[in-house]
Amino acid sequence: MNILFVGDVVGALGREMVKEYLPKLKNYFHPHLTVVNGENSAGGRGITEDIYKQLLDAGANVITLGNHAWDNKNIFEFIDRAKYMARPANFPQAPGTGIVYVRINDIEAAVINLQGRTFMNPLECPFQKAEELVKEAKNRTDIIFVDFHAEATSEKQAMGWFLDGKVSAVVGTHTHVQTADNRVLPAGTAYLSDVGMTGPYDGILGMGKDPVIYRFLTSLPARFEVPKNGRKQLSACLIQIDKKTGKAKSIERILINDDTPFFMGQ
Ligand SMILES: [Fe+2]
Ligand SMILES: [Fe+2]
Repeated sequence: MNILFVGDVVGALGREMVKEYLPKLKNYFHPHLTVVNGENSAGGRGITEDIYKQLLDAGANVITLGNHAWDNKNIFEFIDRAKYMARPANFPQAPGTGIVYVRINDIEAAVINLQGRTFMNPLECPFQKAEELVKEAKNRTDIIFVDFHAEATSEKQAMGWFLDGKVSAVVGTHTHVQTADNRVLPAGTAYLSDVGMTGPYDGILGMGKDPVIYRFLTSLPARFEVPKNGRKQLSACLIQIDKKTGKAKSIERILINDDTPFFMGQ
């Protein structure tokens, strides 16, 4: 079975890319499970119920989140009825859930969202929480996908090795830049430090570039905005899994933008 995972959808341009390319990618790869990180999908900051529904309509089965989960207040109104949305599981007290079970064509899979603590807000320990949730999930399925939303590649690699052989995949989000270290770890867990971002192609991590450059040059405050038009990109990965054992067979990177019309990194 295949899992398709699309990295942080940023603003309207990111949503346009999902709408345009997710059906094409699904048609091409026939994933059993499609997961989309939507933490920046509402203007770069959080998610709304309408957008959550749009992403599901475009072909996502589960939406994951991250540190921006709470930026749009609308989330507090719909998170309890959003059955297919996982927020970082290691928030100490938060509505919603950090693990979503989904059954597609008789195959059950668990999707877990966790957030790192290095150069980020201090949450509960993501490693302990991972252990707890994996134990719970194993009672139901061996197909377990982890979106580890973290800043530091060291923390992400540590999570990959920590969960090697226990889950099908650990894929990083949050840094918005796709890394080239996709591999299957020795005990059968697919790993990628960061899947990358889906949204504006000519900005800086999805934001318009000028205020970011201004802030670096002057150290003065500047408001970052997500461009509403311009060139765009989609970042994703495809994981092949043995559905009997839950072990990964391969993980490939997918990048679509004007310079790489459809790139799959082996
Ligand atoms: Fe993000
Ligand atoms: Fe993030």
